[in-house]
Amino acid sequence: MPNAIILGTGSCVPEKVLPNQYFEKVGSNDAWIQERLGIKERRVVDGQTTSDIAAGAAENALASAGITAEEIDLIVLATATPDRPAPATACAVQEKIGARNAVAFDISAVCSGALFALSTGCQYIASGMFRNVMVIGADTFSNITDWERRDSVFFGDGAGAIVLTATEENRGFLQFELHSDGGGKEGFTVPAGGCETPTTPETLAQGLHCFQMDGKAVFDTATSMVPPTIESVLQKCGLTIADIQCMLPHQPSIRILQEIAKRVNLPWEKVRTNMDRYANTSGGTIPIVLDETWRSESFNPGDHILFAAVGAGWTWGAAVYKC
Ligand SMILES: CC(C)(COP(=O)(O)OP(=O)(O)OC[C@H]1O[C@@H](n2cnc3c(N)ncnc32)[C@H](O)[C@@H]1OP(=O)(O)O)[C@@H](O)C(=O)NCCC(=O)NCCS
Repeated sequence: MPNAIILGTGSCVPEKVLPNQYFEKVGSNDAWIQERLGIKERRVVDGQTTSDIAAGAAENALASAGITAEEIDLIVLATATPDRPAPATACAVQEKIGARNAVAFDISAVCSGALFALSTGCQYIASGMFRNVMVIGADTFSNITDWERRDSVFFGDGAGAIVLTATEENRGFLQFELHSDGGGKEGFTVPAGGCETPTTPETLAQGLHCFQMDGKAVFDTATSMVPPTIESVLQKCGLTIADIQCMLPHQPSIRILQEIAKRVNLPWEKVRTNMDRYANTSGGTIPIVLDETWRSESFNPGDHILFAAVGAGWTWGAAVYKC
């Protein structure tokens, strides 16, 4: 079976910056946000859609991969904030970047979305059905944030993209381990706007089209479910945590990542974060942090990179990449 390797990466964040001081008017403050969450500022769109920033990331990834949009066979886009309920935002990106030979569809796994999309792209490559796959994680949570509430501090907007391609060499994504638990659906949800609770003037007045989060439930789920999944995926690869050069995790909060690193015995210097600049960009976090790492660090053949994510659903997982 062919393996899936990273051929190129790209990212795109909006220009508009919202510093922590912005949230003083809703009863939050810079010191609390930095200490608990590790966030200094985040980016928010100003007229752009999710597909706009996703297309920006995809074009940067194509440039880095050195291939054209026409050479892409598949676009898998992870988002919880699509341009429209239908059609898929991936189709809008396909049109914007001119990937006219690509199949395009979306994946919904919220903050785990990019990891789930990566695993999907890898399966298509392993099966031999597609050769060049564009995986995108893109979200504009500013559209589903109630800016009158204190928990508006958590998210930022951003997109990242990864071009995967097939190789016969013994490298690339070695293993994924993914999990879901629909029993956790109230831990993080957008209550209205779907067919269960359609949009009405009342749901809009109550802000039910915006996300609602049980912060403690997110923290407990992340720190209890992700570490055993990391240990399990490493075991499947015949590796230990000492074999990992760096971890590129989803970026929920600095404390969650510190706790996960502690529980799996990964030195903090090996954890890559960017939440100080972008906050939690949901589907965007892993591909953005991968793009930054891929461009700024050099890896040797045989180095191992660990990916890990947790999100609404609940959804969570981990993956190992061999350079
Ligand atoms: C949200 C989170 C930081 C709360 O941490 P915590 O220590 O349990 O906080 P508590 O709810 O007990 O509140 C502690 C204090 O912070 C205050 N506080 C809560 N939210 C605040 C905010 N946004 N701004 C300022 N202060 C806040 C509380 O009022 C409380 O103050 P008090 O001690 O004077 O009463 C933590 O649960 C967390 O990180 N959860 C994960 C959230 C996340 O990652 N979400 C995104 C991924 S889906």
